[in-house]
Amino acid sequence: PGLAEALEALPKVELHCHVEGTMRPATVSDLAAANEVDLPVADPTELYRYDSLDGFLRVFWLVQSVLVTQGDWARLAYESAVDGAAHGLVYRESFFTPARHLAAGRTLAEVVAGLDEGLAAAEAETGVRVALILDFDRDFGAAAAEETVDALLALRRAGATGVERVVGVGYDSTEIGQEPGWYAEAFRRAGAAGLRRTAHQGEDSGPEAIAACVDLLGAERIDHGLSILEDPDVTSRFVDDQIALTVCPSSNIRIANAFPTLAEHVFPEMRHRGLLATLNTDDPALTDLDLGREYRAVASAFGWGWDTMVDIALDGVAACWLPDDGKAVLR
Ligand code: HPA
Ligand code: ZN
Repeated sequence: PGLAEALEALPKVELHCHVEGTMRPATVSDLAAANEVDLPVADPTELYRYDSLDGFLRVFWLVQSVLVTQGDWARLAYESAVDGAAHGLVYRESFFTPARHLAAGRTLAEVVAGLDEGLAAAEAETGVRVALILDFDRDFGAAAAEETVDALLALRRAGATGVERVVGVGYDSTEIGQEPGWYAEAFRRAGAAGLRRTAHQGEDSGPEAIAACVDLLGAERIDHGLSILEDPDVTSRFVDDQIALTVCPSSNIRIANAFPTLAEHVFPEMRHRGLLATLNTDDPALTDLDLGREYRAVASAFGWGWDTMVDIALDGVAACWLPDDGKAVLR
């Protein structure tokens, strides 16, 4: 078989993928109809054209808005995991962003229970395993983030269904008019409870904001981190400490317009500099992508062969939050 087939079959780990961003267009339509949510177009894929991160986020929020019941979350999670497994996914640490739902009066318990139900069914069917990262939406501010951590910790104390699947916290959404330090208290509470920490940064902000995530939030990974190479000191620190970057090259082209073409993306430069830069899809259903396709696109854009792509896949294992014996199984 050729490289394309081999990369599709290569067992892959994914550390930067939003479960809402995996929603099949048909599921967006079905749930919108069932929950009487008005979509501005009949075919949701017509909405999937972006010229900025904030433009993308408006569509992402619309997709989130069709999720109402626990069963909706279960369907989303199930489809998300089986679709990943169909392209070689074996383990994912998946973001979910409940801010909009909590603000609408729904509970974190039903979101987590729904996700757990769908993921357990997909795991039983395909063997893929998925852990969850509770993501704070910066559009809702720091107080909402703190309340959300507290809600998660209360679920843990109560032994709520599925809560053990949530292994970490992060933040996503807009970077404009935001400062990492505002979220220090939310991240501190999460870290004190033994949750792992990551942060979306450097997609729409400079290297000083990336460093601030490590210094002020205790971030162990950075999601995107595109601007890091602009600062040699921040870069050296990330190389020395092997702080991972979860990079999503095709997403950066399609969502943030960060580079004119994939071939101009900084991903190769990041890896040449010795950064632990991993490969991920971000929001595959909203960008016409899957993980197999992302590996093929990157191999082709940068002229990389099998060995380099396997190194990239293994760096995903190195950067994941499984205990060492769990990582050993994936290698
Ligand atoms: N960046 C910011 N917010 C997001 C992203 C992203 O990559 N994906 C989903 N929400
Ligand atoms: Zn993301």
